[in-house]
Amino acid sequence: MKTLIVSNRLPVKIIEENNEYHFIPSEGGLATGLADVYKSGNSIWIGWPGMEIPEERQQEVIDKLQEINLYPVFLTQEEINLYYEGFSNETLWPIFHYFVTYAHYHQNYWESYQSVNQKFADVVLKIAQKGDKIWVQDYQLMLLPNILHQSLPKSTIGFFQHIPFPSYEIFRLIPWREELLNGLIGADLIGFHTHDDVRHFISTATRLLPVTSSSNVILNKERQIVIEPFPMGIDFEKFSELAKSASVKKEVDDFNINRRNNLRTILSIDRLDYSKGIVERLRAFDLLLTTNPEYLGKVTLYMVVVPSRDLVPQYAELREKIDQLVGNINAKYRHVDWNPINYFYRSFPIEVLSAFYSTADVCLVTPMRDGMNLVSKEYVATRNNNDGVLILSEMAGASKELADAIIVNPNNIGDIKDAIVQAFTMPINEQNIRMIAMRDIVQKFNVKHWVNNFMTKLNEVKEFQNSLL
Ligand code: UDP
Ligand code: G6P
Repeated sequence: MKTLIVSNRLPVKIIEENNEYHFIPSEGGLATGLADVYKSGNSIWIGWPGMEIPEERQQEVIDKLQEINLYPVFLTQEEINLYYEGFSNETLWPIFHYFVTYAHYHQNYWESYQSVNQKFADVVLKIAQKGDKIWVQDYQLMLLPNILHQSLPKSTIGFFQHIPFPSYEIFRLIPWREELLNGLIGADLIGFHTHDDVRHFISTATRLLPVTSSSNVILNKERQIVIEPFPMGIDFEKFSELAKSASVKKEVDDFNINRRNNLRTILSIDRLDYSKGIVERLRAFDLLLTTNPEYLGKVTLYMVVVPSRDLVPQYAELREKIDQLVGNINAKYRHVDWNPINYFYRSFPIEVLSAFYSTADVCLVTPMRDGMNLVSKEYVATRNNNDGVLILSEMAGASKELADAIIVNPNNIGDIKDAIVQAFTMPINEQNIRMIAMRDIVQKFNVKHWVNNFMTKLNEVKEFQNSLL
């Protein structure tokens, strides 16, 4: 018996160099969070390898991926445009993150979403054996649980959504809302990061579908589907140990050699995404330098923005806006030997990320909406000396657990600016108290705990369903 993890994106993506395929790690919380877990268990991960692969080279990719227990679902360029960039990221993503005016509702996006969900189902059905558990991940595959349930009514199917679930008033805007909900309730257990997501889902489902609910159970005819929060964690030990490793210490030393005396550093790391509040963060930093000139020459913002979905117009526009803002702020305040913002538009290996986390006095995480936000937890896990300050948006799922961060409303630029000043003036013993409390939580509720909780509950739900037959 194995677990089939199914997600749109595999934890590795293919890049082509000189006609050769190479695998590199995928970015994003889903891929990084689950990557180590799947390696340690008896599981196969099914998903898209990140680019169009011509038919004559598909077998080569299947063979290479099979060595590491991955199985590809190949998408054509048209499917990438309509299902991935289109319905997933121009319809569902903006709606689920409350950016309603960004959402496009195109019939051809929807048709492609349906057919690609069916394509994923065909691959799962080819691989699944009796007794396997199927664990579907995230908003790109909302129709998949029910397609699988119809074909394999006895199978055990879990679904976890890594992004927020919006309130009914927002979700109802989607023209295909009932179909999406019907797709999801093919699962036996549906997990979200927070109680609020669970609440929104249950109230939406009971208003739009002919189902009833009692506490956290939805009753669809005779079938009981359980809806629960499972806040996702990270591999705490990995981040904590990595920070002590020789390679990271060397990165940190190099960093410190180039660091000006007494320079304080703020770190931000995100995928390029309008949901991450990158523009608001830059405005707050600009405000800080205007209202608090004592920080000129004394503070630098290290801002890592990882390229993401760059063919979706709103992402391309955001990139230009960030370039412009960073350029303006640097031009306005820089000295000959000091730059307010060190901006990187690229991804980094984990050792360099660890060095960034290790050397940052403040980690500034200001999403407008975020399902969880693992970056905030990775910063906490890296801080083995219990110092450093986390500033965290109340709109991130992580804020429910990391209450000892300085919590801000990302729409309030003044609030973020004040939080930065508070962080820089926070006495070391207060930093320690807050960081120790957050580290305890991140260590205890780690990613293994998340997987175990989800899987234990999934087994329980299935046993209960079977006992009623
Ligand atoms: N990340 C990465 N490479 C980078 C920068 C970040 O792999 O160059 C990872 C980061 O370590 C984290 C993930 O991307 O695990 C981002 O997850 P998060 O939950 O914060 O946001 P998401 O991108 O899933 O919205
Ligand atoms: C978020 C989503 C994931 C997605 C990741 C990266 O974490 O929840 O499903 O994989 O972003 O986005 P991408 O579009 O590159 O897969």
